[in-house]
Amino acid sequence: MRDKAWTVLGIETSCDETAASVVRGLAPGPGEILSNIVFSQTEAHAPYGGVVPEIASRAHLEILDAMIERALAEAGVSLAEMDGIAATAGPGLIGGVMVGLTTAKALALGTGKPLIAVNHLMGHAMTARMTHGVEFPFLLLLVSGGHCQLVGVGGPEDFRLYGSTIDDAVGEAFDKAAKILGLPYPGGPAVEEAAKTGNPRAYDLPRPMKGRSGADFSFSGLKTALRLLAQDGVQMQDAAASFQAAVIESLVDRTRAGMALFRRDFRNGNVLVVAGGVAANQAIGTALAKLAREEGFVTRIPPPRLCTDNAAMIAWAGVERLSAGHAGDALGFSPRARWPLATSPS
Ligand code: KG4
Ligand code: ZN
Repeated sequence: MRDKAWTVLGIETSCDETAASVVRGLAPGPGEILSNIVFSQTEAHAPYGGVVPEIASRAHLEILDAMIERALAEAGVSLAEMDGIAATAGPGLIGGVMVGLTTAKALALGTGKPLIAVNHLMGHAMTARMTHGVEFPFLLLLVSGGHCQLVGVGGPEDFRLYGSTIDDAVGEAFDKAAKILGLPYPGGPAVEEAAKTGNPRAYDLPRPMKGRSGADFSFSGLKTALRLLAQDGVQMQDAAASFQAAVIESLVDRTRAGMALFRRDFRNGNVLVVAGGVAANQAIGTALAKLAREEGFVTRIPPPRLCTDNAAMIAWAGVERLSAGHAGDALGFSPRARWPLATSPS
């Protein structure tokens, strides 16, 4: 096993961020982010209140080249100095994934460097190793626009699913709540901001799945309850705060249940990693840190700009694969719209 750091170019195009980054490091980290360029297409999608796949793919195609050039220039390195070219190969909006993955294949072919086809969820999952050098095992709470799950991570290829959402993802719930309350897209940051000046006890909303066995999540009932409440007219900040309080109580309860399941697999495991766009929420972070203290865990939450979609996490996933002795993927690797990180034990 070599002890020299790997330098990897990362490309992310699976949703509405076009991103390129150069990262240098060696597992378990921490790694050095030499550049991290993120172009958010928010404005292009805002009129529709959500991401429009066709618009997203076209926008990726138009600017990805320039993003990669900027990432290399800011890092002060050339393609020839890369040890690998990593790109998100799924899961995500397939048109966008194809743009990023095809570009990475072309670069790999042109330079003779290994192609690393990265699972986007793996990128989120491993970010805390890049930022904090977190060792295995850890309990991962992955909370994003498309995903909500609790996963025990025992190694780079050892993922155990303890719970996932039976309906909406938590970021999706934030986005829908924002729409109901007349707040702008993307909803998460807007709801969090509004909640700061609201009373979290103003409205009585359900705490989905609280106290249930297992560690699954559910958010669609909460969304419906908010919609019914809003029909009669609500004070917006109070409703945002009450909604966020319900989400937090549900997340904390489910994570506590996940901790117990994790400890059955990893007796001395005591690290909770929170990843994905929703991990950028400070109120959620504070509540989870309190839970962790109660349960004898420590929390590791990457800074907000590394919680939401970015290419540094994709480059880092490449570093992980190279550090594990992986030679790279075939240039024929197919993009995947669906690609679960972990499946339930059968
Ligand atoms: O990980 P991410 O950037 O994209 C996906 O892979 O889904 O997550 C985006 C999601 C959106 O639903 C957004 O509303 C949510 O993360 N989000 C937040 C916050 N910042 C982003 N949710 C709650 N509070 C935030 N501060
Ligand atoms: Zn994501």
